[in-house]
Amino acid sequence: MSPIIHHHISSLRAALQPYRGQQSGRQDRQQRIALVPTMGNLHEGHLELVKIAKQHADIVVVSIFVNPTQFGVGEDFDSYPRTLDEDVAKLATVGADYVFAPSVDAMYPVLPPPTTVLAGAISNQLCGQSRPGHFDGVGIVVSKLFNIVQPDVAIFGQKDYQQLAIIKQLVRDLSYPIEIVGAPIIRADDGLALSSRNQYLTESERQVAPILHRELQDLAEQLKDGGISQQAFESLLADKRTRISEAGFTIDYLEVKTEALGSVASDSTTFNIENENIVILVAAWLGRARLLDNQLVVVG
Ligand code: PAF
Repeated sequence: MSPIIHHHISSLRAALQPYRGQQSGRQDRQQRIALVPTMGNLHEGHLELVKIAKQHADIVVVSIFVNPTQFGVGEDFDSYPRTLDEDVAKLATVGADYVFAPSVDAMYPVLPPPTTVLAGAISNQLCGQSRPGHFDGVGIVVSKLFNIVQPDVAIFGQKDYQQLAIIKQLVRDLSYPIEIVGAPIIRADDGLALSSRNQYLTESERQVAPILHRELQDLAEQLKDGGISQQAFESLLADKRTRISEAGFTIDYLEVKTEALGSVASDSTTFNIENENIVILVAAWLGRARLLDNQLVVVG
């Protein structure tokens, strides 16, 4: 069955109200609602988020909104693919119940909104460094979606590792009664992480793109036993940067962080990755596409 589409906040709220068990006054009518926030142009990775949502809730709402506040000047807001009809058809195959596809005016009566949601230090590194203001835009739109849908659970992809960490922080700090579920990265057969922006790749760039994942896997393999000197670690990273650049990428960052995106403790001689898991994160341009990937390393 095709999901029911709502373009307005009030009509979506009215549609969801009966599931909250308040209209009937009967607690046994209460059903769990899941939210899958997206910017549309859905691929298999998004459909996987919906499948996970269905395991956690009775009713699944997918938001489709290309959010202007998270795009910087000169970024691809205008050209970002908008494919609502195709998206709805795909969502019908995985059993989403509702699509929320508001206009920019419906979401932002005033643009840019004077109210801000700032994530602090966690958002000033990695993607936040090259995309200043990006996570402030994500923060406000996700807060709004949480307030509009009031889901019991929301599903976000682990490909956007930093975004997921910021949303967990947002839920904790603003006391949203929402469970956040991180969904594993979905990859093409050759290892490339699925992303709507992969379609910006030319045919020859698409052949090169999986190298990013392969280099991350190789680095993870070399770090997984822990116990590495600072010097050896730095030369490993330098070697990876060279290999990725030589393959044709322009690296935005390639970094190793703790699972919570803190700095890995190190002194002048030792890079201390024995005591906690680490995550390797990369963002790199290949032609018009800015590709993101990451690899969690369970150390020891
Ligand atoms: O990950 C995305 O697609 C977007 O950042 C999100 C979470 C839908 C907010 O616009």
